[in-house]
Amino acid sequence: MNTYAETLPRGGAESLGETDWRRLLTEARERTLGLVEPVSEADMDRVHDPLMSPLVWDLGHIAAFEDLWLAQRAGGLDPAREGLWEVYDAAETPRSERGDLSYLRTAEVKEYMAEVRARALAVLAECDLSEREGSLSSGGFVWDMLLQHEHQHNETMLQTLQLAAPCAYVPSRRELPDPPASRVGGMVHVPEGPFLMGAAPGPFAYDNERPQHEVHLPRFAIDRTPVTNGAFAEFVADGGYARRELWSDDGWAWRRAEAVELPRYWTADGRMRSFDRTCALDPTLPVMCVSWYEADAYARYRDKRLPTEAEWEKAAAWDPFSHSVRRYPWGDDPPTPEQANLDQTAFGPAPAGALPAGASAYGALGMVGDVWEWTASPLSGYPGFSAYPYREYSEVFFGPAYRVLRGGSWATRPRVIRNSFRNWDLPQRRQIFAGFRCAA
Ligand code: AVJ
Ligand code: FE
Repeated sequence: MNTYAETLPRGGAESLGETDWRRLLTEARERTLGLVEPVSEADMDRVHDPLMSPLVWDLGHIAAFEDLWLAQRAGGLDPAREGLWEVYDAAETPRSERGDLSYLRTAEVKEYMAEVRARALAVLAECDLSEREGSLSSGGFVWDMLLQHEHQHNETMLQTLQLAAPCAYVPSRRELPDPPASRVGGMVHVPEGPFLMGAAPGPFAYDNERPQHEVHLPRFAIDRTPVTNGAFAEFVADGGYARRELWSDDGWAWRRAEAVELPRYWTADGRMRSFDRTCALDPTLPVMCVSWYEADAYARYRDKRLPTEAEWEKAAAWDPFSHSVRRYPWGDDPPTPEQANLDQTAFGPAPAGALPAGASAYGALGMVGDVWEWTASPLSGYPGFSAYPYREYSEVFFGPAYRVLRGGSWATRPRVIRNSFRNWDLPQRRQIFAGFRCAA
């Protein structure tokens, strides 16, 4: 396999037509339902962790969001079913309370999903997808937003399934490449100078990736690969979790309050759990499911620091030879499995440095795929930011509370990720498939 089926066509320059969007929406739905196909009805309904919604809520939310944006907002139709948006509006109901809501259960929700999808496709058949000022469907914008929303919830659902008891989910895993024959490590050097940060005009991007703007950075170095389990185990063995001086004040308070001594899925006897399996720690894999606080303490242990998101993006996206931005570390072509471990089916990260074809212009590896990477930066709007098409996507999260993560993980669908994509979470969170690399 050398392409990810759903990445093509890309959109943007060659704009997509009705048949393309229909095909992409169908493929997205097959994946969503395929992911939870082996999950029992009881485990679909259960709150597996207070951080997460029941899986069946995600399904209803995917459909309610589609009804709102495609059938109602793009198509001008009335809601498919009255009263459901209150149940499925993520902004109004914190995840911890979703277990109490009267959301649809598995059989009903699948009917609702199909009903909404039929309405959306009817709207699509009548839809003007040309570039038009002021239209949600202009150039396919809202259709791409819907696809990416469903894809993003697939990753959320995988976080829930990883938090669930080991017997709840037994994935069948795609094979990953071996570790590189000789160790790939060290840091890559990025000379002082300007680059263009943010999404180039044209292809779909979220509002928080725009506008593209010039940023001038002093020279810096960044790890060639994400920090591995092997390297992180040295920090653990060296008493890293007990050494106050390595931690920020907030990080130390969190570590003590939660009695954190290891990454989220490591066991005291040197193993690690991935869904149903608990195996010996593989030192070649990127460390995963650590909080920002743990990443920050580790960086201090190495006399390094976390990169700012501008540094991360420059190392991933800037081509200093042509003075231009790449959509992905390797260039503008959509990801292949040789370049990045994305699209969920490996159910875990590849060994650090295993995909040399994914190198950025500066030689950094694994920047897209495998694990999300924590950055030092809080989430904020770029200069000239304007919310579109809704404030609740990201503007309501701007401020010092949230830290930015970059690069996507093995659980990210390829269409969602690009060098400019910004994810965010609270610094104590560990459900996200996040690792990090250090800068100096
Ligand atoms: C961008 C991953 C932080 O899950 O809260 C899904 C994506 N927004 N539905 C989230 C999202 C609305 C969002 N993250
Ligand atoms: Fe959502």
